[in-house]
Amino acid sequence: MAETPYPPELMRDVAKRRTFGIISHPDAGKTTLTEKLLLFGGAIQLAGTVKARKSARHATSDWMEVEKQRGISVTSSVMQFDYQGHTINLLDTPGHQDFSEDTYRVLTAVDAAVMVIDAAKGVETQTIKLLEVCRLRNTPIITFVNKMDREVRETFDLLQEIEEVLKIDCAPITWPIGMGKTFRGVYHLLEDRVLRFTAGEEKRSEGELIKGIANAQLDELFPLEVGKLREDVDLIQGASTPFSLGDFLAGKQTPVFFGSGINNFGVQEILQALIDWAPPPQPRVAGTSGADTRLVQPAEAPFTGFVFKIQANMDPKHRDRIAFFRICSGRYTSGMKVKHVRAGRDMKLANALTFMANERVLMEDGVAGDIIGIHNHGQLHIGDTLTEGENLGFKGIPYFSPELFSAARLRDPLKSKQLQKGLQELGEEGAIQVFEQEGGNMLLGAVGQLQFEVVAQRLKDEYKVDAIFESADIHTARWLTFPDELTRRNFEREQAMRIGKDVDGNPVYLASSRYNLEVTMEKWPKVGFHATREHG
Ligand code: G4P
Repeated sequence: MAETPYPPELMRDVAKRRTFGIISHPDAGKTTLTEKLLLFGGAIQLAGTVKARKSARHATSDWMEVEKQRGISVTSSVMQFDYQGHTINLLDTPGHQDFSEDTYRVLTAVDAAVMVIDAAKGVETQTIKLLEVCRLRNTPIITFVNKMDREVRETFDLLQEIEEVLKIDCAPITWPIGMGKTFRGVYHLLEDRVLRFTAGEEKRSEGELIKGIANAQLDELFPLEVGKLREDVDLIQGASTPFSLGDFLAGKQTPVFFGSGINNFGVQEILQALIDWAPPPQPRVAGTSGADTRLVQPAEAPFTGFVFKIQANMDPKHRDRIAFFRICSGRYTSGMKVKHVRAGRDMKLANALTFMANERVLMEDGVAGDIIGIHNHGQLHIGDTLTEGENLGFKGIPYFSPELFSAARLRDPLKSKQLQKGLQELGEEGAIQVFEQEGGNMLLGAVGQLQFEVVAQRLKDEYKVDAIFESADIHTARWLTFPDELTRRNFEREQAMRIGKDVDGNPVYLASSRYNLEVTMEKWPKVGFHATREHG
């Protein structure tokens, strides 16, 4: 078969993109690293910008205060900046585990991830979960072991824990010299040089370089630590697997860097690794109009992409919602016409936004890997595909079965229309999952309790609806698939009370208990019960 000729300018521009997210357990230093990456990337001038936002976000009881500050939190979703001739898209993932669903979806839109590990704490629970999500798509992971300026765990121990718990091979690229008060810097195993550590938040460049592990300067500077460093390095070079770009790209091996985000130390190396090693935008699997799937190549000329997140109230002045859309192929140009595949109609894309560290600006030109913000009045849902060419549906954007349920009841029954509208819109946005039961009952499903609080507050403020959430007699939900029409009708007749429809109209089984689910599954062996739903 002849090779498909892709437009050369598109191939050139795509090759310069790096789109990644940062994963970590809360407090490991994600916000700090984000900020320092932006600082080194020249996207912000002052440290403190992102931090201020985070402390605002932390006060969850003051949720509406946070909402009011959405102008700032725009930056929380996507940040684009240029570094060494590359365009970097950093996608933020909400730190609070109650919003993990959102995080999972964001991770479907990246090509690589930076994993931050607190060197004193090692691998923590949220990291384990997030890494599992990355593994679903074999996303390449760069590891940053943070807080070396503190008393931390032994380096070999830490690496062993990462390998065993996260089931990923570690290839140390830098190696720490000392820790805590005697943290001296890192030795670069591939470049045979020591980068000296100096504390301080304000500096922009990293410390002094000393070439060669045998260099006598090291003995003078760190007489107490240099012996151990040389021993360690001998050991690693003998025992650990060397870095392999192929294994990293396959998600099997992670290059590991040590540093201290707060001290700007080790940050530049992460940026460099992103540019040198992280993959450019990757091909993506999409369902075609037949039953087949195919890989959409990033340099294919027709524009395609999918919505992975919807955020409301980003601009306090306008009650708008923004759909975050990952471009998978082609080129965005303002005013272009695209097909909204699920809705089966054409749409004009104009005034799409791009996001810099502190502001949103009109997008002029975007290619695969870039994220554009599309003003959304409800026409776009999470998982929707837009294309310029054939009908496609991108796969892999998950909805997870919620773990908490409640039923919304109105204080003022006359407001039921507003409640319906509010819940429908919040459901489409992915803020919460909404299931409609026979008779019009609206049931809410969430992964974390905080989601209910946010929804209650937003219903009040944005839809003027005062709703009470009552606990619902639901244990879990399963999306249903049927082998044929007859089975579907019979099942629906027998189980009418336990069936609901999600915001896209898909049938869901609402089990009252684990036992109830098991019994029903046994009774209906041909019916599919799915804990996650994928779009496309
Ligand atoms: P997160 O987004 O992953 O939750 O973490 P964040 O960056 O907010 O960092 C969590 C805490 O760890 C912060 O301290 C931060 O200053 C600190 N930290 C981050 N990197 C380093 C590092 O390299 N060394 C040391 N020693 N600490 C680090 P905090 O007390 O919660 O906040 P703050 O009062 O310092 O702002």
